[in-house]
Amino acid sequence: MLRTISLICDFIWPRTMPQEGDHQEKISANPRTNPIVTPTLQHSLVPGLTKIKADRIQLQQVVLNLMMNGMGAVAETTERPRELLISAREKDSELIVRVEDSGMGLDAEIVQKIFNPFFTTKPHGFGMGLSISRSIIESRGGHLWAVPRPSGGTIFQFTQPIRPKESDA
Ligand SMILES: Nc1ncnc2c1ncn2[C@@H]1O[C@H](COP(=O)(O)OP(=O)(O)OP(=O)(O)O)[C@@H](O)[C@H]1O
Ligand SMILES: [Mg+2]
Repeated sequence: MLRTISLICDFIWPRTMPQEGDHQEKISANPRTNPIVTPTLQHSLVPGLTKIKADRIQLQQVVLNLMMNGMGAVAETTERPRELLISAREKDSELIVRVEDSGMGLDAEIVQKIFNPFFTTKPHGFGMGLSISRSIIESRGGHLWAVPRPSGGTIFQFTQPIRPKESDA
């Protein structure tokens, strides 16, 4: 899982520009290191994304939080295949990163509260993951929000502005 996050973040915020080619690939979580939940992790990343100047560690933290939540959500469902899909693309001078899961989804009343500090529905949750993630994203001029996934589950998306001066950072 951590290797996958590192791989995905290396692609989105590369130290060097990614090569052209097909960057869709499926990675199965290792059942030995993750015996309870073994979703299919899939990333769909468009090659040649514009580089943005960003704090890699903070953005990795956001992706990690979203992926951990997604893993927790798919663990709760037996109705569908367990899937976690990470994708990134550019639109209207923004980088859009999307983490979607096939988990139990969000109730209408819960969705209003999930970004509040200390809101959690988990017995051992802190309820800080989304609150911190939103602060990180908004501090850099982006947005983080959640929508229901049409086929079941939840889609979290965040944006980061691509500023012209950053394109060659
Ligand atoms: N992918 C998801 N699917 C369904 N519900 C989610 C998802 N992500 C978050 N939630 C809901 O939002 C709540 C808040 O999430 P958040 O990440 O802020 O805290 P947490 O996961 O409960 O605890 P932690 O601080 O350890 O991350 C969760 O307890 C859960 O109810
Ligand atoms: Mg969390």
